[in-house]
Order: sequence, then structure tokens, then C-alpha cells
Amino acid sequence: MNPEVRSLIPGCDALLHGGDYNPDQWLGEPEVIDEDFRLFDAAGVNTLSVGIFAWSRLEPADGVYEFEWLDLILDRLAAAGKNVILATPSGARPLWLAQKYPEVLRTDRKGIRDTPTERHNHCWSSPVYRRKVREINTRLAERYGRHPAVKLWHVSNELSGECLCERCTGGFHDWLKARYGTLEAVNAAHWTDFWAHRYSDWSQINPRDFVLDGLTLDWRRYASWQLTDFYAWESEPLRRLSPGAPVLTNLMGLFEWVDYHALARQLDIVAEDSYPGYQADNADIAAQAVETGFKFDLLRCLKGEPRAWFLMESCIDGNSVWKPLHLKPPGLHHLEMFQALAHGADGTLYFQWRKGRGGVEKYHGAVLNHTHAEETRSFKEVAALGRRYERVKAVIGSLNRAEVAVLFDWESRWAYRAARGLPKNDGAMLVRHAAEQYEPFWRRGITVDVLASAFDFSRHRLVVVPRLYLIQPGFGARMRAYVEAGGWAVFTGLTGMVNESNLCWRDGCPGDGLEELTGVWMEEVGECFPGKELRIDAVDGNSLELRLEGGVARGIYTRVHARDAEVLARYTSGWVAGTPALCTRACGAGRTFYLAADADRAGGLDLIYEAILRARGIAGFLPDGGLLPAGVTAQVREAEGVSYAFLLNFTGAAVRLPLFQRSGCDLETGAALTDSPTELAPWGAKILTLTP
Ligand code: GLA
Ligand code: ZN
Repeated sequence: MNPEVRSLIPGCDALLHGGDYNPDQWLGEPEVIDEDFRLFDAAGVNTLSVGIFAWSRLEPADGVYEFEWLDLILDRLAAAGKNVILATPSGARPLWLAQKYPEVLRTDRKGIRDTPTERHNHCWSSPVYRRKVREINTRLAERYGRHPAVKLWHVSNELSGECLCERCTGGFHDWLKARYGTLEAVNAAHWTDFWAHRYSDWSQINPRDFVLDGLTLDWRRYASWQLTDFYAWESEPLRRLSPGAPVLTNLMGLFEWVDYHALARQLDIVAEDSYPGYQADNADIAAQAVETGFKFDLLRCLKGEPRAWFLMESCIDGNSVWKPLHLKPPGLHHLEMFQALAHGADGTLYFQWRKGRGGVEKYHGAVLNHTHAEETRSFKEVAALGRRYERVKAVIGSLNRAEVAVLFDWESRWAYRAARGLPKNDGAMLVRHAAEQYEPFWRRGITVDVLASAFDFSRHRLVVVPRLYLIQPGFGARMRAYVEAGGWAVFTGLTGMVNESNLCWRDGCPGDGLEELTGVWMEEVGECFPGKELRIDAVDGNSLELRLEGGVARGIYTRVHARDAEVLARYTSGWVAGTPALCTRACGAGRTFYLAADADRAGGLDLIYEAILRARGIAGFLPDGGLLPAGVTAQVREAEGVSYAFLLNFTGAAVRLPLFQRSGCDLETGAALTDSPTELAPWGAKILTLTP
């Protein structure tokens, strides 16, 4: 372990390995709990998340608390030397609570109040719910805040959702007052002269009214803020009564409706629930792996700079009940977990340790099945992974270091989602596009930090700005300073359409000074429907030495004018033939690129990035800057004096990788590297320790 970087749990020198543990479902069967304790060590499990949905066992009636069962479990876990991530139970509320206080129920967009069913369903502004949550959290923190087993706090569960009750809508009006000061300022920001929507009173501002896309954006901001605020409220007693124990919640990667960059300011550690559901029978598993890698690099940098994080939930066998059932073949699960480690995670946990006997998740993959305890494939794979984690724990505290950044903002997604008259206007489109721009780096083993546009990117040598539709205040000036000081930046079409109020820029397109910076004016945007792909070709003698012949543009295309930029490639088919597809402009000591077309990921896009990387002198894992074999990536974590190269094979066939006379060894086997290529098994993952 690198002593300079603290591990996720102070004093713990193991990669976290374990899962959600729900003994509250088994209180009537003590022999089952005995079996759990018999098998934790055999499974190589060191960390358990306890009590996530245990509220009706902890407070069976209003103000009546029963902690004795939890005392026994936590004491036993402490005696067994396990780390506990103790949960607050607010993710699922007891039935008596909503029956007694109906105000805690959510109201939907049609104004209908929910029934007391399901979970993740409370009104964010209900004073009763806040009070009840504060009470139980305080009791938990008082009782267990200094318990030897309790190492981290898990607040609620997968925070999500909105409530449109009168109280929450009133809260929205207050939030707008605080943000804008006057109703006149809101009228201006929401462009309310459209369809006679001028507000003459705050009460007229109705979040259900989708015709004002500035209003929709503000509602999204408010709904995300409300939930972040609730998290902070919930955390207060934990922080006060359990000092030193980090507080976190389980995130859902690129979940659209919560601004995780804002939530992350309240998180001590980033923890993720990841169900990529790799399926051996999926032809495009590598594309899925790229998107997962992108997500992991975003989580790694969620707090602004690279930090250790961990997987809080994953599915061992591929049956995650909410998704199509595709069992993972042997090996694929280890690969999925090693992928998280490769991107800086210091541990991986499961949902869940043991399958319940009832409820809709009773068939969800778990370490223990209903019968045959340690005899199952799942158990054996988990135990084998635990043994591997012992052998590779030297990676703890090492970090991925990147020269390249890709920018990604939640508000930009919300603004784009609210717009009409732009192509393929669904929630996943911006993620897919950003992951496509990330892929050329993934395929070369080049580390990428995925950052919010407000983060500091000044130390990165190349910054990719994929379709950053909404530009935050100050971004244009920061970007100009970055480029003038020597930075290189790539912008893709539809960047810089609106300002922070979702109003179109008037100073150029892309706006906020980006038209001047790139030398490119974007006039029109269109979509290539299947069969209407556009051809793109490099311009002879271009200064980037880009050799692109017969490239294909799919998806979105923009028709641009190179006002003050060199055209590197043009469209060569369709009515846009002859107009620029890729431009570049030198500016100060740096350079910008503007990619007007969604170049095909297989050919065009890769060649473009290859040329940019070559010109910028950024090398990949292979010293010649070449591509790793299809479906394979290398991700490198660095510590003092050594680097750990994680080689991941997302194909069902063995591959061989040349190592170009690198010295070092296989971290698991200790075998020294030789001149011959290293072999990766089908769905294989290995870590090489490389010494300079
Ligand atoms: C989520 C939840 C868990 C469980 C799993 C099932 O991640 O946090 O409680 O429902 O999904 O996949
Ligand atoms: Zn509400």
C-alpha cells in the first residue's frame, strides 16, 4: 500500500470485498445467521453493508425502537474483524409511517398522491419525514457512532425521484426567489413572453409546464438540490456523533436526474452501484465496457481530482432481476470487478450476501443461494476473487494519472433534454456521444479524467468537450486562458448552444466566445438517418497529417463555416459536400479542434484522434501509439516508483499483448515479465507491476 494515500477505511489494508447484508430478514432463523458467520471468511469477505432496508425492524411502531438484534449482529461482526458500512434506513419507510402521516407520500406530475408501496418514495420536503429520519439516524449514531465495527455510513439508498406536492412546489418558488431575487429576473431567464407565459405572481410558476425549457431546467436543478439537501440533513447526526467515520451514499453512475458533481461535494467517499450486466452473448460487449470505463473515470474524478472510490453493489451471476436475464459465464465476473479496480476502485461489493426467500429480488444473484451454501458457482467465484484481492492489494492507494480530460455536465443534459427541434433528443444520447469520444483513448490504454466543466482542467494536455450544449458562466474565458497558455481542446458539434438559463447565445455559435476561439461558426444542425450517412475525407496536405479517406459520419452533423480556422477534413457527399467536417485553429500557445460531424467510431473518429494524439505527443500503452487488440484495454494506476497496468480482455477469446521489453512482473503470480507477449485468457484480467 502506498503510505501517502489513505485507504478508504483507516487502518484497513485490504481491498474492500463483501456486500449488502440483511440479517433483519432472518431474525427468526438464527442458524442461518450462524452460517453467514461461518462463511464470511471462506468467501474472502471483509466488509458488510448493514441495515439498508431495516426500518420496520428498528422502529416497529412510532417511537418504539428495537436495537437489540442489531447490537448482536454488530458485536459479532466486530468480533469477526469485519468492516461494517452502517446504513440509515430512509430508502424504504415502514408501512405504519405513511399510514399515520400521509404527508410523507409523494405527489406525481398529475397531482396524484402515491400509495404506501415500494421504496424510494418519500416527499423531500415533508417536515414529518425529516423529523422521523433525523430521529432514527440520531439514535443509530448515538448507539453505534463509535462501535468498533462501524467504519463508514451509508445514507439512504440510490437517492432519486421528485415530488410535486404543494409544499415541494412552494419550495421551488422559494428556491427561485433565492436564485433570482425578483420575479422580473425569473421572467427574463425563463423567456416567459413565449405563449403569453409572463409570470405576475410566483404561484403561477408551474414545474409541469414543459413549454418553457428554462423553467424545466430550473425545476431539474431544484429537484436535484432538494435531494442533495436531504442527504446533508440526514448526515448531520452521523457527522456529529460518529466523528471520523466517512459518510456516503450509493450512486448510480450516470443517473440522469441527480447532479452527482453537486452531490459529491457532500460525500466523503464515492461509492457506486454498477450493473453493467456484461453478457457473453452480447456482440457489442466492448462498447458496453467503454461506456462503463467512461462512467468509472467520471466517478474517480467526481470530487474534482482523482480519488479512491469503490463499488458498493454489483451482481455476481448476471441475474440482476431488473434487467434481462443473461448469466455470466465463468471468468466474466472477475473481469467486471477488475475493471472497477483498474479505474481506481479500492474494493468491490455485491448486492447481496444472501438471497432472501421472498420479495421480488429473491432470485437476484447473491453470494449465497437459497440452498447448498458454499457449493455453488457464485460462492466459489466470490471466494476465488477474495483470494485474488489478497494477492493484488498492493494497488491500494495508487491512482490513475491522466493527461487527457473529457468534460461532462449534468445541467447540459437536462437543458438538452428540455429542448425541442434538435436531433435524437433522448437522455442517453449525450452519454453515448461522450463515450464515443472517450473510446479512442480506452482502446490505446490512455488514462482519461472525466471532469465537470467547472473543474480545473489546466494541467491536462488535451481536453475533449463532447457536445457541451450548455455553457456555464465563465467557461468560455477559462477555456480561452487554457488554450492560450498552451492547452489543446477538441469541441464537437452542438457545443455552446445555450447559456446557464437555457437561452441561446447571441454572441456567436458556439457561444460565450467559443466561436472566436475555434474560428468556427456553426450555422445548422441535422441528423443522418440510416442509409443517409455522409462521407468525410481529409483535405490533401493538411497540417495535422490526417489521413482519412472515405470516413463515415452518422448521427448528428453540423454545417459549419471555417471563419478563421484551417479545414482538416470535409464532407464529401450529400448536399453539405464541400463544407468543413473538422477544423483546427492555433491560438496563443495552444490549439483548438472543432469536429462538426459524428464521425463513425470504427474508422473516421479513431483516425482523427490518432492524428491529434500523435501531433500532441501523447503515447498510449503501446509505445507506437497503436490500438490494443479489439475489446482489450489497459488502465494504469501509479504509485511511488511503480505502476500497475491492468490488462482487461472483453472478448471470449485469448489474446496476446506485446510488452516492448518492459520490466516488472505479474502482480498475482510474481512471474517476471519476459520478451514474449503476455497472454490474456478469454474474459481475462491481470495486473502487471511495471518498474521504470
Ligand atoms: C439497487 C438497490 C438494491 C437492489 C439492487 C438490485 O442497486 O440499491 O437495493 O435493489 O438494485 O439490482
Ligand atoms: Zn412533496
